[in-house]
Amino acid sequence: MLGTMKSRGVPVVPAVAAAAAIILFVFTAGQPAATAAIVEHTFIVSQVNMTRSCKETLVTVVNGQLPGPAIEVTEGDSLSVHVVNKSPYNITIHWHGVKQRLSCWADGVPMITQCPLRPNHNFTYRFDVAGQEGTLWWHAHVGCFRATLHGALIIRPRHGASSYPFPKPHVEIPMIIGEWWDMDLVQLERNMVDGDFRDNPTAMTINGQLGDPFNCSGIVKDGFVLDVEAGMTYLLRLINAALFTEFYLKIAGHKFTVVASDANYVNPYTTDTIAIAPGETMDVLVVANAPPGKYYMVAVALQTPKPDQQLPFFMTSGMVQYRSGHSHNNGTTGHHNVAPVVPELPDQHDTITTYYFHGNLTSLRHPRRPQVPVHADEYFFITLSDGSICRHGRQSCKRSGSNESMLVAAMNNVSFQLPATVAAPLLEAHYYHRNNTASIGGVDLYMLPNSPPRVFNFTDLSLVPSGPKEAQLEATKKRMVGRRFRHGTAVEVVFQNTALMQTGSHPMHLHGHDVFVLAQDHGIYDPAKDVAKYNLVDPPVKNTVVVPRLGWVALRFVADNPGLWYVHCHFDFHMIMGMDAVFIVDDGPTVASILPPPPDDLPNCNHGDNHASNELLYPHEGKGSVLQS
Ligand code: C2O
Ligand code: CU
Repeated sequence: MLGTMKSRGVPVVPAVAAAAAIILFVFTAGQPAATAAIVEHTFIVSQVNMTRSCKETLVTVVNGQLPGPAIEVTEGDSLSVHVVNKSPYNITIHWHGVKQRLSCWADGVPMITQCPLRPNHNFTYRFDVAGQEGTLWWHAHVGCFRATLHGALIIRPRHGASSYPFPKPHVEIPMIIGEWWDMDLVQLERNMVDGDFRDNPTAMTINGQLGDPFNCSGIVKDGFVLDVEAGMTYLLRLINAALFTEFYLKIAGHKFTVVASDANYVNPYTTDTIAIAPGETMDVLVVANAPPGKYYMVAVALQTPKPDQQLPFFMTSGMVQYRSGHSHNNGTTGHHNVAPVVPELPDQHDTITTYYFHGNLTSLRHPRRPQVPVHADEYFFITLSDGSICRHGRQSCKRSGSNESMLVAAMNNVSFQLPATVAAPLLEAHYYHRNNTASIGGVDLYMLPNSPPRVFNFTDLSLVPSGPKEAQLEATKKRMVGRRFRHGTAVEVVFQNTALMQTGSHPMHLHGHDVFVLAQDHGIYDPAKDVAKYNLVDPPVKNTVVVPRLGWVALRFVADNPGLWYVHCHFDFHMIMGMDAVFIVDDGPTVASILPPPPDDLPNCNHGDNHASNELLYPHEGKGSVLQS
């Protein structure tokens, strides 16, 4: 057993916050030829000053780095990450896209799978990374801290890079696209919890660099530089870590070939524009086959066109720079007097390119490709919309932007909220009372309805912005909402986007499972004709699914991982506004399908021990009656 190799007590923290991983090799019993490793990391969460856009900002990061350290494992390894919280905030770390089979306790969702790690506390996340290959990532799951607490999680095939189902790249580089916030992330969260969504990021970043659109005080910012050698192939492991922003990425003079997304291989798809939404990852090959020189890469923030409310235009840039054949002693690359090639900028209001980009992904036939369920046992038709609740617990109130109500986000007009007082995380409450199907920890689980309360012309643009007609459509409930599934249930979900008050897309993310994306289209889903569009042959397998603007997406997954799994929109503001639910998956019939008990070092909640920081416990409603209906 790997477990016997692990220290169960207080994690051993190396004196130096070494970024390097410690890897122990263990021979798996019964399989003398195979080795599995325990990969160990120490994550020290602390606040450091960083200067961007000519301004010093206190940011919360892991091991002093932005982005945080990349974790690299081989499929089948066990990970052991010692998190030491030296920040003044409550923190959890989520391993985005890791299936966490039988290890829901390590999923890192505050008050859902664990109490957060309080300041000056440690916790070791221990779990296996099995049955997945490619790029995933880790991020804080508390409030808005994902903006600065994030990093890549790279899973290589067991038999090495030569077993990639695509030409072996010469170089592999994680590339994280994100946002830079000058503003305090705690304040940002507070504003959003309060229904105030006016804050904007300061800038966009590639691997933490702002790029030269942000040359304050006349000094050109470096931006992220990718040094390439002519003829070589680069594997970019793209991650969108932004809170609010879907991006288009382009490199002048070069094409991308997408080979994987969300740690699932796809049939190679060549394009000059990548679309990537918050939560998604894309593994793309870039061949340095252009004339040697300098080429801008640009990441442009998408936004929906009017009548949606308009934000400032945001983009960032980096550079692809060819090493010259003859070396220069000054260490530069020889093209310093050649102007960089600029790509044609993607249109920030283009919502069609991302639709086709995602529609063009198909899964690669591969020994690891999971089987698509040909039938579903349960069906959901879920509308995604903004909504409103009455403030101060009132039953009725004026809506449509009135002060009497506040804006929330919902699935089928139910908006998620945690119980106002919770002594233990929901998973723990559930675990010890698994026979009780109707409540968790004494709080009723509100059944996520299988369909919306009202049928209306969901994608009617005249629903933006809100007016008298919308007032009756937007009424929403705040509940601890979710569904419970028998182990092995094949679930079909059609997410229907709406135009209720705004028309953006939603990157919907399910924890603990991958999903098959069967079809998408614009307009309103009609089972009579749309089921025929389902791809049951090679649908892409994802953990984050972009529900297109003014359209729908159909997906299936098999609920076969016992535990309590968060499902939510990966736009942070929608997550905080309540476009979330919990999916509870029962234990299966065999010993190998039963959720083990919690690890004994799981943090406890101890409210009151550190009151100031408990207030920041997203999505804890510690602030009186505002969010209680
Ligand atoms: Cu990447 Cu629940 O999130
Ligand atoms: Cu959303």
